[in-house]
Amino acid sequence: MQIEGKVALVTGGAQGLGYAFVQALLDKGAKICFCDINTNQGEATLKQLSDKYGAGNVMFRRCDVTSQKDMEELFKATKDRYGRIDIVCNNAGMGGETYPQWEQVVDVNIKGMTRGSFIAFEYLRNDKGGNGGVIVNISSAAGLSVNPMSPVYCATKTAIIALTRCLASNEEVRNCGIRVNTLCPSFADTDLVKQISPFTLHDDAETKMENSAKVTNFLSAHGLMTTDTVAESFMELVMDETKNGAVLRVSKGKGNEYCKIEVSV
Ligand SMILES: NC(=O)c1ccc[n+]([C@@H]2O[C@H](COP(=O)([O-])OP(=O)(O)OC[C@H]3O[C@@H](n4cnc5c(N)ncnc54)[C@H](O)[C@@H]3O)[C@@H](O)[C@H]2O)c1
Repeated sequence: MQIEGKVALVTGGAQGLGYAFVQALLDKGAKICFCDINTNQGEATLKQLSDKYGAGNVMFRRCDVTSQKDMEELFKATKDRYGRIDIVCNNAGMGGETYPQWEQVVDVNIKGMTRGSFIAFEYLRNDKGGNGGVIVNISSAAGLSVNPMSPVYCATKTAIIALTRCLASNEEVRNCGIRVNTLCPSFADTDLVKQISPFTLHDDAETKMENSAKVTNFLSAHGLMTTDTVAESFMELVMDETKNGAVLRVSKGKGNEYCKIEVSV
């Protein structure tokens, strides 16, 4: 896919990986709408990007991906401003393993990305005025592995891999010119990683210290990628038109690995 002249929408783009995806798309000549729930960070990022790429090429809207109304307005505002939508990245996500935060994790990570995919279909489908295009859902290497410290986060990220692969293999979706892929990064240097708080049955000081030591050891064993490294893998899923239903793991040690997941039908 040629990116020049295309229009992309990225959720959770005010910082972290979403910000790197936005920049990678702008670098290749796309026009961008990014949203975030964090208005202050979103406005600050918009200013930086407008200075660098031109105010006509980038817009920001406050939007909570758990709200159907917010998301419908986000897509409509993007189409109204730029006339089309070709690329959608459902990136907004969070971690948290205790009540009530874990419920929000399910709402944002599963419902938010499902909502974003379904609304994207209405704008991309080439049988109803769209031009086809690509959706990239941001899962995680955690969605492909077992991590006793983050059961809820892992479950939501596994769900996104399943959602993406099922949608990508759906004949109606394929016939409307839409590809759906998922990116599964290992650890990257963002706030989400700095704020990992592990699942525990005990919250005494000693267990907390043990758990935070486990997280530190886990992180140093895996290493942290830069957000730019992850953005290169993201762009491969966007641009390579042979990729549909792809599950791309990217990690510091092994780089890009396309994962084969066997299914019996
Ligand atoms: N950083 C990593 O190591 C890593 C690894 C694998 C996957 N991921 C995934 O990458 C995505 C981006 O995470 P990140 O590491 O950049 O984290 P981050 O916390 O730096 O950025 C996440 C962004 O999403 C926004 N957001 C959260 N809830 C939202 C909502 N309800 N509506 C709109 N925006 C919302 C936040 O305000 C923030 O700007 C997430 O889906 C995360 O699960 C991150």
